[in-house]
Amino acid sequence: MIPILDLSRQYQALATELNDALLKAAASTQYILGPNVKAFEQEAADFIGVKHAIGCASGTDALVLSMLALKLGTLHYGEPAEILTTPFTYIATSETMAQVGATPVFVDVEPNSFNLDMKQLEKALTPRTKAIVPVHLYGLPCNMNEIMAFANANGLAVIEDCAQAMGAEYQGKKVGSFGDLGGFSFFPSKNLGCMGDGGMVTTNSDELAERVRMLRVHGSRQRYYHEEAGLNSRLDDIQAAVLRVKLPHLNDFNAARQAVAQRYNEWLKPLAEFVTTPSVPADRTHVFHQYTLRLNTTDASVRDAIQASMRDAGVTTMIYYPVPGYSQQTHANLHCNPMDFPATEALRAQVLSLPMFPELTEDEQRTVVTALESAVKDNVSGFNRQPALEQVY
Ligand SMILES: Cc1ncc(COP(=O)(O)O)c(C=O)c1O
Repeated sequence: MIPILDLSRQYQALATELNDALLKAAASTQYILGPNVKAFEQEAADFIGVKHAIGCASGTDALVLSMLALKLGTLHYGEPAEILTTPFTYIATSETMAQVGATPVFVDVEPNSFNLDMKQLEKALTPRTKAIVPVHLYGLPCNMNEIMAFANANGLAVIEDCAQAMGAEYQGKKVGSFGDLGGFSFFPSKNLGCMGDGGMVTTNSDELAERVRMLRVHGSRQRYYHEEAGLNSRLDDIQAAVLRVKLPHLNDFNAARQAVAQRYNEWLKPLAEFVTTPSVPADRTHVFHQYTLRLNTTDASVRDAIQASMRDAGVTTMIYYPVPGYSQQTHANLHCNPMDFPATEALRAQVLSLPMFPELTEDEQRTVVTALESAVKDNVSGFNRQPALEQVY
């Protein structure tokens, strides 16, 4: 079976260095906020091009800490602050808003980029809107110029959800360096992954950095003195040791992902009538956390049949994401109407993510493409045979 992701290949390639780093971290016994965390925070800040990087326990906590640092929680607002975001993302993006007592306000996406549709943002503004959380989905940066201009014009804070996009650039600058804060995940499957859970907040603001550092240790700047309710959310020193081994390789990992994507794009050209491959605007780089196609049909049963046929041919594919934020039970209190999100409703039926990881071989990719070709052939009648939607770029 060709997996969607095979972590063992990366581990094998770096095993000597990783094992050595793990043993040293274990022997140091400085497990909490030890020397590897300090060093990694500096190395990661240099990599992203920001003043501060602050390690924490997960990408989810990176978002919670960012929202609390900006005082978007119930502690600071009588009425819940409203935060604009995309429904087409992993649940952590909006779940964390609910956790701090803010209200997620979902805005539809733009089909080609899968990211927030800038044309829809204005309509979602209310006097209670305090922030916007754009998500660089699948590793493709959002249009940060437009987002920052919109945020500045309306007095909104910006938290970039960079969980899937470490190393991606917009106009020559790395994601996580545009907004007030950026949240990163080091979940093992991410472009830079550790051996468990881990995360990081980035910022250029000394004040926000101080607040995040305070909030990650129970709201405390001085031991046993607590100024507000925080979290216990540190990056483990052992995980930081792993990340320090991998970070110098991240550009190579991302370049390998881009090469895999380039081959898929090329080899899938004969299927252009049936599948739309990811497109990348000239002013940004895509780090392909996922390689996600759109099938040129909005009949989810066709996509599901294609997925099943590929599985039978030994190829794993995934659907990121089958249920948008506004349809999740956890957000039922928001009473959203799916009809207000036509682009997201179409995408949830169309998307199919193919195996993607730096070590995927050309032979494996050929098997994936052959399986897709044959699955499409078997399901031709389910396509509406519309040419691919016009690219907006
Ligand atoms: C877009 C997005 N945001 C946030 C997260 C949360 O990261 P973590 O799993 O490290 O908590 C993820 C993780 O999958 C993600 O994909």
